[in-house]
Amino acid sequence: MKKLAIVYHSGYGHTAFAAQKVFEGAATVDGIEAKLVAVGGDHVTPWEELKNADALIFGTPTYMGSVSAPFKGFMDESSKVWMGREWKDKVAAGFTVSGSPSGDKQSTLQALSTFALQHGMVWVGYDRMPEVYTGVAPENARNRLGSFSGLMLQAAQTAPDQSFLPGDLASASDFGQRVATLFAKKIR
Ligand SMILES: Cc1cc2nc3c(=O)[nH]c(=O)nc-3n(C[C@H](O)[C@H](O)[C@H](O)COP(=O)(O)O)c2cc1C
Repeated sequence: MKKLAIVYHSGYGHTAFAAQKVFEGAATVDGIEAKLVAVGGDHVTPWEELKNADALIFGTPTYMGSVSAPFKGFMDESSKVWMGREWKDKVAAGFTVSGSPSGDKQSTLQALSTFALQHGMVWVGYDRMPEVYTGVAPENARNRLGSFSGLMLQAAQTAPDQSFLPGDLASASDFGQRVATLFAKKIR
């Protein structure tokens, strides 16, 4: 089995809820062992586990137009890993959750992709054609927000399990499956 870790921070549970869906999608792919790894706050980052993973999907809420401060803390702490090139050639991808349809999530994805590329990782985007183009109602459409450099999700200011449109949740598992599938191809 090849290992894929979904490394995320969530202040109020929405990104954690989305991460679970990404995990569920990745776990459907044969030969992939997916795992959720929370970072920031009280969580101790399992650096050795991340070193042993073959692919990392990063997830963070968008706070003030960028990654959350706890996730940035994780990024900065990874400088020792960077120095040792421990993540070089691993597959990387990213997703972000915010309250507004835009919310400046692009800045967050740029921060995540730059981070991965600094580590020498291979950045994978989201290939799904926005399904609104094919007549799917916006609430059910995958890639509703039309982002290709990574997955963008919007969450209402309600309880995490009530805050996402069905299409956004489907996007999250679709994205996890896509990254895991590409990764599975890369290693074969
Ligand atoms: C400090 C802070 C800053 C935020 N900044 C943005 C923002 O720049 N754009 C946006 O659309 N939403 C913003 N939001 C809303 C969050 O992105 C949204 O509530 C998200 O679902 C939170 O995810 P979480 O529950 O995983 O922390 C912000 C929320 C907080 C608490």
